[in-house]
Amino acid sequence: MEHSFQVAIDGPAASGKSTVARLLAGRIGGYYINTGDMYRTVSWVALQHGVDPVANPSGVVALLSDCDLRYRIVEGVPTLFLNDAVVPQEAIRSPEVSAIVSPVAAIPEVREWMLDRQRECKEVGIVIMEGRDIGTVIFPDAKFKFFVTASPMERARRRLAQKGEVADGATLESVAADIARRDELDSTRAVAPLRPAEDAVTIMTDGISAEEVADLLATAIRN
Ligand code: DC
Repeated sequence: MEHSFQVAIDGPAASGKSTVARLLAGRIGGYYINTGDMYRTVSWVALQHGVDPVANPSGVVALLSDCDLRYRIVEGVPTLFLNDAVVPQEAIRSPEVSAIVSPVAAIPEVREWMLDRQRECKEVGIVIMEGRDIGTVIFPDAKFKFFVTASPMERARRRLAQKGEVADGATLESVAADIARRDELDSTRAVAPLRPAEDAVTIMTDGISAEEVADLLATAIRN
């Protein structure tokens, strides 16, 4: 197999694409990069500064100049750093961050700022990058493009089972409504909306385990 290429894994919230992408990286020996975590980190910074991305998007943009956000390889694992400190996963997966990340990711200047930061990740070799616009915008020439999805109810069940990201007292219905709201925001925004690239292979994962999906993708790549 070649030593340097990109695999784009896009799909909606809670589709299981993170688990699949991480497993796939292990199967084919590549680096797993989560671009959602980069948008979550900017959202976390906005929260810390009390900036509301809906009322004050330019306030979010103003914060970017103080953010040095990048993946570094630590003991063989791509790790997200903000200004030389590892970004804490529990902070960026909080319900408060999840509630504002779609409006933050819809700000055109924020997306523009992310472009080079995400594209430079390919320098490390084989990269499995997950997000919403990897196959359409970040790496339109990616060697492999997959769109991993699942029905809204299946995704709500998965999100509820994950804990952490859902608020206390959340129900299947409330989680499904939150996911539907984010899908709507992510797929109707003006810049780089969530959609499969024309040359992406769509995988509907209802009733299929992440392990099986990763096996499917690894086989497609090896062949
Ligand atoms: O994958 P995730 O649910 O952690 O992503 C969080 C948000 O970031 C999601 O609502 C959409 C946005 N996002 C994006 O717009 N583009 C990406 N490449 C990745 C995530």
